[in-house]
Amino acid sequence: MDKLKIVGGKRLAGEITISGAKNAALPILCAGLLTSGDLALANVPHLHDVRTMLKLLQQTGLKVSQDGEQVTLNGAAIDKLEAPYELVKTMRASILVLGPLLARFGEAKVSLPGGCAIGSRPVDQHIKGLEALGAEIRLEGGYIYARAKKLKGARVVTDMITVTGTENLLMAATLADGETVLENAAREPEVTDLANLLVAMGARIEGIGTDRLVIQGVEALHGARHEVISDRIEAGTFLCAVAATGGDIVLKNTRSDILDAALDKLREMGVILTTGPDWIRAQMASRPKAVSFRTTEYPGFPTDMQAQFMAVNCIASGASKVTETIFENRFMHVQELNRLGARITIEGNTAFIEGVEQLVGAPVMATDLRASASLVIAGMAARGETLVDRIYHLDRGYDQMEVKLSQVGADIVRIK
Ligand code: EPZ
Repeated sequence: MDKLKIVGGKRLAGEITISGAKNAALPILCAGLLTSGDLALANVPHLHDVRTMLKLLQQTGLKVSQDGEQVTLNGAAIDKLEAPYELVKTMRASILVLGPLLARFGEAKVSLPGGCAIGSRPVDQHIKGLEALGAEIRLEGGYIYARAKKLKGARVVTDMITVTGTENLLMAATLADGETVLENAAREPEVTDLANLLVAMGARIEGIGTDRLVIQGVEALHGARHEVISDRIEAGTFLCAVAATGGDIVLKNTRSDILDAALDKLREMGVILTTGPDWIRAQMASRPKAVSFRTTEYPGFPTDMQAQFMAVNCIASGASKVTETIFENRFMHVQELNRLGARITIEGNTAFIEGVEQLVGAPVMATDLRASASLVIAGMAARGETLVDRIYHLDRGYDQMEVKLSQVGADIVRIK
Protein backbone atom coordinates (compact mmCIF):
# COMPACT_ATOMS: atom_id res chain seq x y z
CA MET A 1 0.00 0.00 0.00
CA ASP A 2 1.53 3.33 -1.06
CA LYS A 3 2.32 5.98 1.55
CA LEU A 4 3.24 9.66 1.28
CA LYS A 5 6.24 10.90 3.31
CA ILE A 6 5.93 14.63 3.99
CA VAL A 7 8.44 16.94 5.69
CA GLY A 8 6.57 20.08 6.70
CA GLY A 9 7.53 23.75 6.90
CA LYS A 10 8.16 24.46 3.20
CA ARG A 11 6.56 27.54 1.66
CA LEU A 12 4.99 27.00 -1.78
CA ALA A 13 5.93 29.01 -4.89
CA GLY A 14 5.26 28.45 -8.58
CA GLU A 15 2.48 27.29 -10.92
CA ILE A 16 0.13 24.28 -10.76
CA THR A 17 -2.03 23.13 -13.68
CA ILE A 18 -5.48 21.96 -12.59
CA SER A 19 -6.93 18.78 -14.17
CA GLY A 20 -10.46 18.11 -15.44
CA ALA A 21 -13.16 17.62 -12.81
CA LYS A 22 -13.65 14.05 -11.53
CA ASN A 23 -17.28 14.75 -10.64
CA ALA A 24 -18.02 16.06 -14.13
CA ALA A 25 -16.03 13.38 -15.99
CA LEU A 26 -17.81 10.46 -14.27
CA PRO A 27 -21.40 11.33 -15.35
CA ILE A 28 -20.14 12.60 -18.74
CA LEU A 29 -18.52 9.22 -19.47
CA CYS A 30 -21.89 7.56 -18.70
CA ALA A 31 -23.55 9.83 -21.26
CA GLY A 32 -21.65 7.74 -23.84
CA LEU A 33 -24.27 5.02 -23.23
CA LEU A 34 -27.00 7.32 -24.56
CA THR A 35 -25.87 7.41 -28.20
CA SER A 36 -24.50 5.24 -31.00
CA GLY A 37 -22.40 8.22 -32.10
CA ASP A 38 -18.88 9.20 -31.06
CA LEU A 39 -18.38 11.19 -27.88
CA ALA A 40 -14.99 12.96 -28.17
CA LEU A 41 -14.00 14.22 -24.71
CA ALA A 42 -11.05 16.44 -23.78
CA ASN A 43 -9.53 17.27 -20.36
CA VAL A 44 -10.52 13.90 -18.86
CA PRO A 45 -8.41 13.56 -15.68
CA HIS A 46 -6.06 10.60 -15.06
CA LEU A 47 -7.75 9.28 -11.91
CA HIS A 48 -8.41 5.87 -10.44
CA ASP A 49 -12.17 6.51 -10.43
CA VAL A 50 -12.07 7.42 -14.15
CA ARG A 51 -10.21 4.19 -14.93
CA THR A 52 -12.80 2.25 -12.92
CA MET A 53 -15.67 3.92 -14.79
CA LEU A 54 -14.07 3.21 -18.19
CA LYS A 55 -13.64 -0.46 -17.21
CA LEU A 56 -17.29 -0.60 -16.15
CA LEU A 57 -18.47 0.99 -19.40
CA GLN A 58 -16.27 -1.23 -21.59
CA GLN A 59 -17.77 -4.37 -20.10
CA THR A 60 -21.19 -3.23 -21.41
CA GLY A 61 -19.73 -3.23 -24.92
CA LEU A 62 -19.15 0.53 -25.13
CA LYS A 63 -15.96 1.19 -27.15
CA VAL A 64 -13.30 3.37 -25.51
CA SER A 65 -10.16 4.84 -27.07
CA GLN A 66 -7.83 7.03 -25.05
CA ASP A 67 -4.95 9.34 -25.89
CA GLY A 68 -3.75 11.21 -22.81
CA GLU A 69 -6.61 13.43 -21.58
CA GLN A 70 -8.56 12.78 -24.81
CA VAL A 71 -11.11 9.97 -24.54
CA THR A 72 -13.44 8.88 -27.36
CA LEU A 73 -16.46 6.71 -26.57
CA ASN A 74 -18.82 4.90 -28.92
CA GLY A 75 -22.01 3.19 -27.77
CA ALA A 76 -23.06 1.50 -31.03
CA ALA A 77 -22.23 -2.04 -29.88
CA ILE A 78 -23.51 -2.14 -26.30
CA ASP A 79 -24.74 -5.65 -25.54
CA LYS A 80 -24.54 -6.10 -21.76
CA LEU A 81 -26.93 -3.92 -19.77
CA GLU A 82 -25.40 -4.32 -16.36
CA ALA A 83 -22.97 -3.02 -13.74
CA PRO A 84 -21.56 -5.88 -11.62
CA TYR A 85 -21.00 -5.71 -7.86
CA GLU A 86 -17.22 -6.19 -8.03
CA LEU A 87 -16.89 -2.88 -9.91
CA VAL A 88 -19.77 -0.95 -8.29
CA LYS A 89 -18.54 -1.74 -4.75
CA THR A 90 -15.35 0.24 -5.42
CA MET A 91 -17.11 3.33 -6.77
CA ARG A 92 -20.59 4.58 -5.90
CA ALA A 93 -20.76 6.73 -9.02
CA SER A 94 -21.30 3.49 -10.99
CA ILE A 95 -24.99 4.06 -10.25
CA LEU A 96 -24.84 6.66 -13.05
CA VAL A 97 -25.12 3.91 -15.70
CA LEU A 98 -28.66 3.11 -14.54
CA GLY A 99 -30.50 6.08 -16.07
CA PRO A 100 -28.76 5.95 -19.47
CA LEU A 101 -29.12 2.15 -19.91
CA LEU A 102 -32.78 2.30 -18.97
CA ALA A 103 -33.50 5.26 -21.24
CA ARG A 104 -31.81 3.88 -24.34
CA PHE A 105 -32.28 0.08 -23.97
CA GLY A 106 -35.31 -0.23 -21.69
CA GLU A 107 -33.57 -2.37 -19.09
CA ALA A 108 -30.62 -2.42 -16.68
CA LYS A 109 -29.20 -4.57 -13.89
CA VAL A 110 -27.05 -2.47 -11.56
CA SER A 111 -25.55 -3.53 -8.25
CA LEU A 112 -26.67 -1.46 -5.30
CA PRO A 113 -23.64 0.56 -4.16
CA GLY A 114 -22.47 -0.31 -0.66
CA GLY A 115 -22.21 2.49 1.89
CA CYS A 116 -18.88 4.22 2.21
CA ALA A 117 -16.71 5.83 4.87
CA ILE A 118 -18.57 9.16 4.84
CA GLY A 119 -22.08 7.80 5.20
CA SER A 120 -24.74 5.30 4.11
CA ARG A 121 -25.41 7.25 0.87
CA PRO A 122 -28.53 5.40 -0.33
CA VAL A 123 -29.88 5.72 -3.89
CA ASP A 124 -33.58 5.80 -3.04
CA GLN A 125 -34.08 9.11 -4.83
CA HIS A 126 -32.58 7.74 -8.05
CA ILE A 127 -35.07 4.84 -7.87
CA LYS A 128 -38.03 7.05 -6.91
CA GLY A 129 -37.35 9.35 -9.86
CA LEU A 130 -36.96 6.53 -12.41
CA GLU A 131 -40.21 4.94 -11.18
CA ALA A 132 -41.91 8.33 -11.68
CA LEU A 133 -40.65 8.15 -15.29
CA GLY A 134 -42.45 4.80 -15.66
CA ALA A 135 -39.68 2.30 -14.87
CA GLU A 136 -40.51 -0.95 -13.04
CA ILE A 137 -37.80 -1.45 -10.45
CA ARG A 138 -37.14 -4.55 -8.33
CA LEU A 139 -34.39 -4.87 -5.70
CA GLU A 140 -33.09 -8.43 -5.23
CA GLY A 141 -29.85 -9.96 -4.07
CA GLY A 142 -28.10 -6.60 -3.83
CA TYR A 143 -29.04 -5.68 -7.39
CA ILE A 144 -31.40 -3.14 -8.95
CA TYR A 145 -33.42 -4.74 -11.79
CA ALA A 146 -35.02 -1.99 -13.89
CA ARG A 147 -37.24 -2.27 -16.95
CA ALA A 148 -39.22 0.23 -19.04
CA LYS A 149 -40.63 -0.24 -22.54
CA LYS A 150 -40.32 3.53 -23.00
CA LEU A 151 -39.78 6.07 -20.22
CA LYS A 152 -42.49 8.70 -19.99
CA GLY A 153 -41.82 12.32 -18.97
CA ALA A 154 -43.03 13.30 -15.50
CA ARG A 155 -42.57 15.91 -12.77
CA VAL A 156 -40.12 14.69 -10.11
CA VAL A 157 -39.50 16.36 -6.74
CA THR A 158 -36.58 14.68 -4.93
CA ASP A 159 -36.76 14.63 -1.11
CA MET A 160 -33.36 16.31 -0.92
CA ILE A 161 -30.92 17.83 -3.40
CA THR A 162 -28.84 14.97 -4.83
CA VAL A 163 -26.01 15.55 -7.32
CA THR A 164 -25.81 12.11 -8.98
CA GLY A 165 -29.56 11.67 -8.48
CA THR A 166 -30.13 14.79 -10.59
CA GLU A 167 -27.59 13.54 -13.15
CA ASN A 168 -29.14 10.07 -13.43
CA LEU A 169 -32.67 11.45 -13.89
CA LEU A 170 -31.50 14.18 -16.27
CA MET A 171 -29.83 11.60 -18.57
CA ALA A 172 -32.87 9.31 -18.42
CA ALA A 173 -35.28 12.18 -19.22
CA THR A 174 -33.44 13.16 -22.43
CA LEU A 175 -34.87 10.06 -24.21
CA ALA A 176 -38.21 9.81 -22.39
CA ASP A 177 -41.53 10.52 -24.15
CA GLY A 178 -42.69 14.08 -23.46
CA GLU A 179 -41.73 16.60 -20.83
CA THR A 180 -39.89 15.94 -17.55
CA VAL A 181 -39.54 18.55 -14.81
CA LEU A 182 -36.85 17.96 -12.16
CA GLU A 183 -37.65 20.12 -9.13
CA ASN A 184 -35.09 20.51 -6.35
CA ALA A 185 -32.36 19.75 -8.91
CA ALA A 186 -28.68 20.02 -7.89
CA ARG A 187 -26.97 23.13 -9.30
CA GLU A 188 -23.33 22.01 -8.93
CA PRO A 189 -21.15 23.15 -11.88
CA GLU A 190 -20.54 19.48 -12.71
CA VAL A 191 -24.30 18.98 -13.24
CA THR A 192 -24.27 22.04 -15.53
CA ASP A 193 -21.29 20.64 -17.44
CA LEU A 194 -23.18 17.35 -18.03
CA ALA A 195 -26.30 19.27 -19.13
CA ASN A 196 -24.26 21.32 -21.60
CA LEU A 197 -22.83 18.12 -23.07
CA LEU A 198 -26.31 16.56 -23.39
CA VAL A 199 -27.53 19.68 -25.25
CA ALA A 200 -24.53 19.33 -27.59
CA MET A 201 -25.74 15.74 -28.20
CA GLY A 202 -29.18 17.03 -29.22
CA ALA A 203 -31.02 16.95 -25.89
CA ARG A 204 -33.57 19.68 -25.16
CA ILE A 205 -33.00 21.07 -21.61
CA GLU A 206 -34.21 24.35 -20.08
CA GLY A 207 -33.16 25.84 -16.73
CA ILE A 208 -29.53 24.64 -16.84
CA GLY A 209 -27.76 25.90 -13.70
CA THR A 210 -31.00 26.35 -11.78
CA ASP A 211 -32.83 24.03 -9.35
CA ARG A 212 -35.59 23.38 -11.92
CA LEU A 213 -34.63 21.45 -15.06
CA VAL A 214 -37.25 21.04 -17.83
CA ILE A 215 -36.44 18.37 -20.42
CA GLN A 216 -38.33 17.62 -23.65
CA GLY A 217 -37.51 14.03 -24.59
CA VAL A 218 -36.13 13.31 -28.10
CA GLU A 219 -35.99 10.14 -30.23
CA ALA A 220 -32.22 9.78 -30.15
CA LEU A 221 -29.03 11.62 -29.24
CA HIS A 222 -26.04 12.00 -31.57
CA GLY A 223 -22.32 12.20 -30.81
CA ALA A 224 -20.54 15.41 -29.75
CA ARG A 225 -17.20 16.91 -28.77
CA HIS A 226 -16.78 18.31 -25.24
CA GLU A 227 -14.08 19.58 -22.91
CA VAL A 228 -14.61 18.56 -19.28
CA ILE A 229 -14.82 21.50 -16.85
CA SER A 230 -11.83 22.18 -14.60
CA ASP A 231 -11.83 20.56 -11.13
CA ARG A 232 -12.87 23.24 -8.62
CA ILE A 233 -12.22 20.93 -5.66
CA GLU A 234 -8.65 20.18 -6.76
CA ALA A 235 -8.14 23.94 -7.15
CA GLY A 236 -9.60 24.64 -3.71
CA THR A 237 -7.42 21.93 -2.19
CA PHE A 238 -4.21 23.57 -3.46
CA LEU A 239 -5.42 26.99 -2.29
CA CYS A 240 -5.87 25.52 1.21
CA ALA A 241 -2.33 24.14 1.00
CA VAL A 242 -0.82 27.59 0.40
CA ALA A 243 -3.08 29.09 3.10
CA ALA A 244 -1.55 26.57 5.53
CA THR A 245 2.12 26.73 4.49
CA GLY A 246 2.39 30.31 3.20
CA GLY A 247 3.78 31.18 -0.23
CA ASP A 248 2.69 32.39 -3.65
CA ILE A 249 1.16 30.03 -6.25
CA VAL A 250 -0.73 30.47 -9.51
CA LEU A 251 -3.30 27.84 -10.50
CA LYS A 252 -3.65 27.48 -14.30
CA ASN A 253 -6.45 25.86 -16.34
CA THR A 254 -8.93 26.70 -13.60
CA ARG A 255 -11.96 28.96 -13.18
CA SER A 256 -12.67 31.44 -10.41
CA ASP A 257 -16.43 31.75 -10.96
CA ILE A 258 -17.44 28.31 -9.62
CA LEU A 259 -15.77 28.40 -6.23
CA ASP A 260 -17.04 31.70 -4.74
CA ALA A 261 -17.99 30.38 -1.29
CA ALA A 262 -14.55 28.81 -0.76
CA LEU A 263 -12.68 31.82 -2.19
CA ASP A 264 -14.58 34.13 0.19
CA LYS A 265 -13.49 31.98 3.16
CA LEU A 266 -9.86 31.98 1.97
CA ARG A 267 -9.91 35.79 1.81
CA GLU A 268 -11.41 35.81 5.34
CA MET A 269 -8.39 33.68 6.40
CA GLY A 270 -6.10 36.39 5.05
CA VAL A 271 -5.12 34.82 1.71
CA ILE A 272 -4.60 37.46 -1.03
CA LEU A 273 -6.40 36.16 -4.13
CA THR A 274 -6.23 37.62 -7.63
CA THR A 275 -8.13 35.90 -10.45
CA GLY A 276 -8.33 35.83 -14.23
CA PRO A 277 -10.55 33.95 -16.70
CA ASP A 278 -8.56 30.71 -16.33
CA TRP A 279 -6.14 31.33 -13.42
CA ILE A 280 -6.14 32.07 -9.69
CA ARG A 281 -3.14 33.50 -7.79
CA ALA A 282 -2.92 32.94 -4.03
CA GLN A 283 -0.41 34.76 -1.80
CA MET A 284 -0.10 34.09 1.94
CA ALA A 285 2.54 35.65 4.15
CA SER A 286 0.94 35.42 7.59
CA ARG A 287 -0.67 32.87 9.90
CA PRO A 288 -4.21 32.18 8.68
CA LYS A 289 -7.14 33.49 10.71
CA ALA A 290 -9.64 30.80 11.80
CA VAL A 291 -12.92 30.76 9.81
CA SER A 292 -16.23 29.09 10.68
CA PHE A 293 -18.59 27.67 8.05
CA ARG A 294 -21.33 25.17 7.38
CA THR A 295 -21.46 23.01 4.27
CA THR A 296 -24.52 23.27 2.02
CA GLU A 297 -25.42 22.48 -1.57
CA TYR A 298 -24.03 24.65 -4.38
CA PRO A 299 -23.60 27.62 -4.50
CA GLY A 300 -23.01 27.34 -0.73
CA PHE A 301 -19.80 26.10 0.88
CA PRO A 302 -18.91 22.71 -0.71
CA THR A 303 -18.84 19.63 1.52
CA ASP A 304 -15.91 18.39 -0.62
CA MET A 305 -13.83 21.31 0.75
CA GLN A 306 -14.73 20.81 4.44
CA ALA A 307 -11.81 18.57 5.44
CA GLN A 308 -9.22 20.71 3.64
CA PHE A 309 -10.39 23.94 5.34
CA MET A 310 -10.45 22.16 8.70
CA ALA A 311 -6.75 21.34 8.25
CA VAL A 312 -6.00 25.05 7.82
CA ASN A 313 -8.17 25.95 10.84
CA CYS A 314 -6.00 23.57 12.94
CA ILE A 315 -3.05 25.98 12.75
CA ALA A 316 -5.05 29.22 12.36
CA SER A 317 -5.20 31.96 14.99
CA GLY A 318 -8.45 31.71 16.93
CA ALA A 319 -11.25 29.17 17.33
CA SER A 320 -13.62 27.99 14.60
CA LYS A 321 -16.79 25.96 14.16
CA VAL A 322 -17.40 23.64 11.17
CA THR A 323 -20.86 22.18 10.56
CA GLU A 324 -21.33 19.35 8.01
CA THR A 325 -24.93 19.25 6.78
CA ILE A 326 -24.64 16.95 3.71
CA PHE A 327 -23.13 13.69 5.01
CA GLU A 328 -23.69 12.08 8.39
CA ASN A 329 -20.12 10.90 8.93
CA ARG A 330 -17.68 13.19 7.21
CA PHE A 331 -15.39 13.89 10.18
CA MET A 332 -13.13 10.83 9.83
CA HIS A 333 -10.14 13.14 9.40
CA VAL A 334 -10.64 14.68 12.87
CA GLN A 335 -9.00 11.97 14.95
CA GLU A 336 -6.08 11.80 12.49
CA LEU A 337 -5.60 15.60 12.64
CA ASN A 338 -5.65 15.37 16.44
CA ARG A 339 -2.78 12.85 16.21
CA LEU A 340 -0.77 15.70 14.65
CA GLY A 341 -1.52 17.87 17.69
CA ALA A 342 -4.70 19.57 16.50
CA ARG A 343 -7.35 20.47 19.10
CA ILE A 344 -10.71 19.43 17.62
CA THR A 345 -13.82 18.23 19.43
CA ILE A 346 -17.03 17.03 17.80
CA GLU A 347 -20.62 17.52 18.92
CA GLY A 348 -23.10 15.92 16.52
CA ASN A 349 -22.48 17.33 13.03
CA THR A 350 -20.35 20.22 14.30
CA ALA A 351 -16.59 20.24 14.93
CA PHE A 352 -15.01 22.86 17.20
CA ILE A 353 -11.39 23.69 16.37
CA GLU A 354 -8.99 25.63 18.60
CA GLY A 355 -6.09 26.82 16.44
CA VAL A 356 -2.60 25.82 17.68
CA GLU A 357 0.74 27.46 16.85
CA GLN A 358 2.29 24.33 15.41
CA LEU A 359 1.33 20.78 14.45
CA VAL A 360 3.91 18.01 14.90
CA GLY A 361 4.43 15.35 12.22
CA ALA A 362 3.30 11.75 12.94
CA PRO A 363 2.11 8.64 11.07
CA VAL A 364 -1.58 9.06 10.08
CA MET A 365 -4.09 7.09 8.04
CA ALA A 366 -6.31 8.27 5.19
CA THR A 367 -9.95 7.14 5.42
CA ASP A 368 -11.64 8.77 2.42
CA LEU A 369 -10.76 10.97 -0.53
CA ARG A 370 -11.01 14.47 0.93
CA ALA A 371 -9.82 13.38 4.39
CA SER A 372 -6.57 12.24 2.70
CA ALA A 373 -6.18 15.69 1.15
CA SER A 374 -6.63 17.34 4.55
CA LEU A 375 -3.90 15.11 6.07
CA VAL A 376 -1.49 16.08 3.27
CA ILE A 377 -2.19 19.77 3.93
CA ALA A 378 -1.73 19.31 7.70
CA GLY A 379 1.50 17.36 7.13
CA MET A 380 2.86 20.16 4.94
CA ALA A 381 2.20 22.66 7.74
CA ALA A 382 3.48 20.40 10.56
CA ARG A 383 7.00 20.44 11.97
CA GLY A 384 8.94 17.28 11.09
CA GLU A 385 7.87 14.19 9.19
CA THR A 386 4.32 12.94 8.53
CA LEU A 387 3.61 9.56 6.95
CA VAL A 388 0.14 9.32 5.34
CA ASP A 389 -0.94 5.70 4.85
CA ARG A 390 -3.67 4.23 2.59
CA ILE A 391 -3.28 6.96 -0.04
CA TYR A 392 -5.18 4.90 -2.60
CA HIS A 393 -8.05 7.05 -1.30
CA LEU A 394 -6.17 10.13 -2.54
CA ASP A 395 -5.46 8.60 -5.96
CA ARG A 396 -9.19 8.15 -6.59
CA GLY A 397 -9.69 11.89 -6.97
CA TYR A 398 -6.31 13.59 -7.39
CA ASP A 399 -3.98 13.21 -10.36
CA GLN A 400 -0.47 12.82 -8.86
CA MET A 401 -1.03 15.33 -6.06
CA GLU A 402 2.45 14.80 -4.62
CA VAL A 403 4.08 15.54 -8.00
CA LYS A 404 2.13 18.77 -8.44
CA LEU A 405 2.94 19.91 -4.89
CA SER A 406 6.64 18.94 -5.13
CA GLN A 407 6.90 21.10 -8.25
CA VAL A 408 6.01 24.16 -6.14
CA GLY A 409 8.42 23.35 -3.30
CA ALA A 410 6.67 20.86 -1.01
CA ASP A 411 8.83 18.03 0.40
CA ILE A 412 6.61 15.04 -0.43
CA VAL A 413 7.63 11.62 -1.75
CA ARG A 414 5.53 8.55 -2.53
CA ILE A 415 6.78 5.36 -0.88
CA LYS A 416 5.69 2.16 -2.63
C1 EPZ B 1 -21.75 13.72 -5.23
O1 EPZ B 1 -22.03 12.54 -4.50
C2 EPZ B 1 -20.24 13.79 -5.36
N1 EPZ B 1 -19.76 12.62 -6.12
C3 EPZ B 1 -19.60 13.83 -3.97
O2 EPZ B 1 -18.21 13.97 -4.14
C4 EPZ B 1 -20.14 15.06 -3.23
O3 EPZ B 1 -19.61 15.08 -1.93
C5 EPZ B 1 -21.66 14.99 -3.18
O4 EPZ B 1 -22.20 14.88 -4.52
C6 EPZ B 1 -22.26 16.24 -2.54
O5 EPZ B 1 -21.86 17.37 -3.24
C7 EPZ B 1 -19.91 12.63 -7.47
O6 EPZ B 1 -20.42 13.57 -8.07
C8 EPZ B 1 -19.40 11.42 -8.20
P1 EPZ B 1 -25.65 13.34 -3.13
P2 EPZ B 1 -23.56 12.00 -4.43
O7 EPZ B 1 -26.52 12.35 -3.83
O8 EPZ B 1 -24.27 12.37 -5.66
C9 EPZ B 1 -28.37 11.75 0.42
C10 EPZ B 1 -15.96 13.54 -3.71
O9 EPZ B 1 -15.30 13.75 -2.69
N2 EPZ B 1 -29.04 10.94 -0.62
O10 EPZ B 1 -25.69 14.78 -3.57
O11 EPZ B 1 -23.47 10.57 -4.04
C11 EPZ B 1 -26.91 11.33 0.61
O12 EPZ B 1 -26.83 10.26 1.53
C12 EPZ B 1 -17.34 12.94 -3.62
O13 EPZ B 1 -15.59 13.81 -4.89
C13 EPZ B 1 -30.11 10.09 -0.25
O14 EPZ B 1 -30.46 10.00 0.91
O15 EPZ B 1 -24.13 12.85 -3.22
C14 EPZ B 1 -26.27 12.59 1.14
O16 EPZ B 1 -26.49 12.67 2.54
C15 EPZ B 1 -17.66 12.53 -2.19
N3 EPZ B 1 -30.72 9.35 -1.21
C16 EPZ B 1 -27.06 13.70 0.44
O17 EPZ B 1 -28.29 13.10 -0.02
C17 EPZ B 1 -30.36 9.40 -2.54
O18 EPZ B 1 -30.98 8.70 -3.38
C18 EPZ B 1 -26.34 14.30 -0.77
O19 EPZ B 1 -25.91 13.21 -1.55
C19 EPZ B 1 -29.28 10.27 -2.90
C20 EPZ B 1 -28.65 11.03 -1.93
